[in-house]
Amino acid sequence: MPNRIKEEIERLKNERGAIILAHSYQPGVIQDTADFVGDSLELSRTAAKESAELVVFCGVKFMAETAKLLSPDSTVVLAAPDADCSLAACMSGADLREMKKKYPGAKAVTYVNSTIDLKAESWACCTSANSVEVVEAAPSDEVIFGPDRNLGTWVAENTGKKLHIWPGGCHAHSGADIRDLREKKAEWPDAEVLVHPESPSVFLWEADAVLGTGGMIRHVEGSRAERFIIGTEEGMIYRLETLFPDRVFVAAGKIVCDDMGFTTPELVLKALESRNNGIEIPDELADKAAAAVRRMTEIG
Ligand code: 13P
Repeated sequence: MPNRIKEEIERLKNERGAIILAHSYQPGVIQDTADFVGDSLELSRTAAKESAELVVFCGVKFMAETAKLLSPDSTVVLAAPDADCSLAACMSGADLREMKKKYPGAKAVTYVNSTIDLKAESWACCTSANSVEVVEAAPSDEVIFGPDRNLGTWVAENTGKKLHIWPGGCHAHSGADIRDLREKKAEWPDAEVLVHPESPSVFLWEADAVLGTGGMIRHVEGSRAERFIIGTEEGMIYRLETLFPDRVFVAAGKIVCDDMGFTTPELVLKALESRNNGIEIPDELADKAAAAVRRMTEIG
């Protein structure tokens, strides 16, 4: 990144009482610029705790919306305003209302990769880091889970509850080719395979551990292995290489979220300069969606 942009970002950040939050899938240059890099749950908790005047969020839309729900007095700006999530588009609040009619006794646990109107219909949200714990905590034996089918299937296998799962999916994880993972495993038989639960079941069966992005970091920290095959969005490789320069990481296959790559240093600077286009949450949904998200941050 040109020095001029780097210095300008630093100056404006201090002048405006801003913090820059970045998800671990963000391009390396953005991770290096951020005050905090983390998984969805860590970023939500950080946004709530910091209550900065201005939060510049480097990630995709649902993440910035979650930060706004938890920190309503902050101006939250998504650095790349067009960065959205194909998974969040899979299910709406109206879809959940239909599911509730079908399964009236079931509480709804919704993956945080979702729209505000779906969150507002939910008992609680969860991330991949605490999905099992949130479902376990739901006060019903049956749970409606959406929008991610792969995560829901994995949660169902790890809880005693009956799940009614919406058939949505992340295009990046769902598009991964199992032959790529098998090739890597043949090449590096000593490597540990870490896979995100949004991946198709066949990836999960072949993994040594199924983990969210924060869990992957903690796993590597506690592992004696030297090499790891990583089954999630490719930005995670940079994050792991930065944290563990003495270990070796390779992607399990081509898992790329284009929207995560939209953020540039220039856009971060623009967000700091303008403070405009802050995330707005419709009044009629704000309280309910915030309650579901707050519950998520309190469990697990
Ligand atoms: P984490 O919750 O593991 O950070 O994953 C976020 C995500 O969007 C996965 O596609």
